[in-house]
Amino acid sequence: MIPEKTGPAAVIVLAAGAGTRMKSRTPKILHEIGGRSMVGHALLAARSINPQQLAIVVRHERDLVAEHVSRLDPSALIVDQDDIPGTGRAVEAALQALDAEQQLTGTVVVTYGDVPLLSGGLLAELVATHEREANAVTVLTAVLDDATGYGRILRGEDGTVTGIREHKDSSEAEQLIREVNSGIYAFDAAVLREALGKVTTENAQGEKYLTDVLGLAREAGGRVAAVVTADRWQVEGANDRVQLAALGAELNRRTVEAWMRAGVTVVDPATTWIDASVTLDEDVRLLPNIQLHGATTVARDAVVGPDTTLTDVTVGEGAKVVRTHGSGAVIGKGAAVGPFTYLRPGTVLGESGKIGAFYETKNVTIGRGSKLSHLGYAGDAEIGEDTNIGCGNITANYDGEKKHRTVIGSGVRTGSNTVFVAPVTVGDGAYSGAGAVIRKDVPAGALALSIAAQRNTEGWVPAHRPGTRSAELAQAATKDSSSTPASTEEGK
Ligand code: UD1
Ligand code: MG
Repeated sequence: MIPEKTGPAAVIVLAAGAGTRMKSRTPKILHEIGGRSMVGHALLAARSINPQQLAIVVRHERDLVAEHVSRLDPSALIVDQDDIPGTGRAVEAALQALDAEQQLTGTVVVTYGDVPLLSGGLLAELVATHEREANAVTVLTAVLDDATGYGRILRGEDGTVTGIREHKDSSEAEQLIREVNSGIYAFDAAVLREALGKVTTENAQGEKYLTDVLGLAREAGGRVAAVVTADRWQVEGANDRVQLAALGAELNRRTVEAWMRAGVTVVDPATTWIDASVTLDEDVRLLPNIQLHGATTVARDAVVGPDTTLTDVTVGEGAKVVRTHGSGAVIGKGAAVGPFTYLRPGTVLGESGKIGAFYETKNVTIGRGSKLSHLGYAGDAEIGEDTNIGCGNITANYDGEKKHRTVIGSGVRTGSNTVFVAPVTVGDGAYSGAGAVIRKDVPAGALALSIAAQRNTEGWVPAHRPGTRSAELAQAATKDSSSTPASTEEGK
């Protein structure tokens, strides 16, 4: 039996920073791209390398962040950073917490909560290189055109990494270096522990720099090396909302591309937004201008779009969803929805069913082959199979205080503008006439009519609206435009 591959001893995710440039009441790392918070992306990448322990360091908006993290990853260890600032102090706090039960040995990885495109694959590569080369520290770096603000990678004449210099502490010559520290590292636990004990706050920012560990590790005789990535997006952090949008667009570009490679047709990648949590089958077709969010899944041969937003919607095989706004709905195999349709939570449309133009639905189960083709509202209802709901039908489900259910059977045909005043039940095979207001249960096979007699008052328009165009046309149409209005009633 092949033993299960175990990952590093621990991953420490740094997330204590304030993120002031976001100018937001929401903590920076809780801002979302691809339908997931930045820290959510960071936690997934960290988990994907299968660490024995995962710690996250918090401070700014501590309770909000801790609550969010515990929900996403209940076994993550939440560590509080004290008043001493700096990435070194943050890691020291995490290491102390992780060491509490038993001193860590082996590889400790450090990542950031605000670097959302970092992949598990690149982290795994960092760990693999670190362990293969038996390094004391391995830092993930990138070469940037504009390295302003970043810590610069210092290398000796033979190219070996000798340390990191923070931008604010750097000389003019050092500022010309374009290889930057991503802030993501693999450390040997013992080296890290010992070096952090020696790191001071004597620098331009008065912080305990994690970057000082590299120089200290080298002085102690350890090997320090770098993994250089050509994919700068994977090490990019979001500090403000401009960067957040750029990272969001890049993440989406990657997600859309991955689905196309997996067999999904995307007519216009630029206007197709797919959350990281969405799943699509082969031969799904996505038409322009759509947003697929949350736990949305789309089955084989279904067509979604154009102009559609779906959140937590299940789209069945071969279904067609056009110009629709939906959430928490299930669309059956071969069913049709739209255009201009609003599916609200609890909508379940059966196989080959239809919810057509200008329909709103909520908490409604619609059986196989049943159709609600045009203009209406169906809420808190259950509709059987092969039922045809006429144009303009409405379930009057709300009496001003409580909601009530409408139950409509199979093989039912309802006339245009039927109103179901819930609670009410319509039996299998029943019919209703146009304009029926169904206040009483309709037995199976019955025709329900609620007739208000129509009354025509002849000559009313010429008499009451003399001189209008309507009156003129009416007079021309009635040869003998009698001056005495007569009434007729129909439908008695
Ligand atoms: C840090 C690195 C720099 C690197 C850059 C990459 C140090 C000293 N410098 O700089 O070499 O190029 O990241 O983006 O490490 N954090 C805490 N507690 C703190 C301070 C920061 O948890 O006390 C967290 C932040 O939430 C953030 C990360 O650490 O996720 C980096 O902090 P930040 O202040 O952005 O670091 P930089 O000064 O940009
Ligand atoms: Mg800083």
